[in-house]
Amino acid sequence: MKIGILTGGGDCPGLNAVVRGVTKSALKRGWEVIGFRDGYRGLVEKDFVNLHDHDVSGIIIRGGTILGTSNTANPFAYTLAPLGSAEKPRDLSKLAFKNFKDLGLSALVAIGGDGTLTMAQQLYEKGMPVIGVPKTIDNDLSATDVTFGFDSALNVATEAVDRVHTTAESHNRVMIVETMGRYAGWIALRAGIAGGGDIILLPEIPYRAEEIISAVLDRKRRGKKFSIIVVAEGARPEKGEMTVTKVVKGSPDPLRLGGVSYKIAELLDKSKVGLESRVVVLGHVQRGGQPTPFDRWLATGFGVKAAELLDGKQFGRMVSFRHFGFTSVSIAQAVGKLRLVSPCAQEVLMALSVGTSFGNSGITGRCA
Ligand code: F6P
Repeated sequence: MKIGILTGGGDCPGLNAVVRGVTKSALKRGWEVIGFRDGYRGLVEKDFVNLHDHDVSGIIIRGGTILGTSNTANPFAYTLAPLGSAEKPRDLSKLAFKNFKDLGLSALVAIGGDGTLTMAQQLYEKGMPVIGVPKTIDNDLSATDVTFGFDSALNVATEAVDRVHTTAESHNRVMIVETMGRYAGWIALRAGIAGGGDIILLPEIPYRAEEIISAVLDRKRRGKKFSIIVVAEGARPEKGEMTVTKVVKGSPDPLRLGGVSYKIAELLDKSKVGLESRVVVLGHVQRGGQPTPFDRWLATGFGVKAAELLDGKQFGRMVSFRHFGFTSVSIAQAVGKLRLVSPCAQEVLMALSVGTSFGNSGITGRCA
């Protein structure tokens, strides 16, 4: 057997550990492995590297992806021109199939988020034997209990929350830390709980400005002259929209969020709280650096499971982690469904019990 591997979408700590896991398991079975460069671009443009044991040695500890990635390359809507040019995207899926055949491949392993896996499913429906591996720091895929990359991002975010305490306490300030996560609040929620955040703002619980202000004032009355706010980039006011910072043409989800924390700072500065506020937007720092031990472990398990699925010719399936075990689901069943924070989740109630505000008691009050 000869297999191809690609990594698509945003980079994510643990991608290399999956590439290593699939490759080593495949080589052990006597298969050949190639890696496509820059996601589906490599498949469409026949740009690849052979992967031998020494190519994947030592990469388990490295962030990013040795194969490169792309969040715009789509075989079904492909453009060879530089990003932002006026060239109309073309359906080059037939070329992708031709390359797949010419290279003598028996299967493709697509490692990526919802966009990459949706394309994998389209290729599968047209006859390509495909196995999917889910990745995202956002932890928002419904078909798996956890995705690799999330734990690494959470560690960075929690450390940031820990670190801003120093300035908050010394200067009597409101420190606002903005996390990634797109439409899901998992990173903000868990970093907020772990870092002892006083206010946590999530996309799933639209906030009321007056409740943020009163939570800060309430702390002040209790002698706590500083507050820490952890806000997810997708957080939005009850009667308002998410903050979009950029639109990336050609990306499966073109909206890039970010900057809501400046709005929170502004509303506090204009209020009667009488405390200065400062903003820290963590951005891509959360995706950078080495994966945590948990993510290396999870990603290795995903890679090994993907090889098992290949061995069993269980194409059209995606590896998944459920109830502390590695399993699989159909890719079709996995894509397009986000796993969001429920406003009444046990961990939200847990945070409420230790006095954390989510900026909207109208919603969380209904859960208790
Ligand atoms: O999906 C992962 C993620 O990091 C999101 O949390 C974030 O909104 C987005 O990707 C950023 O994308 P880009 O790297 O294209 O700016």
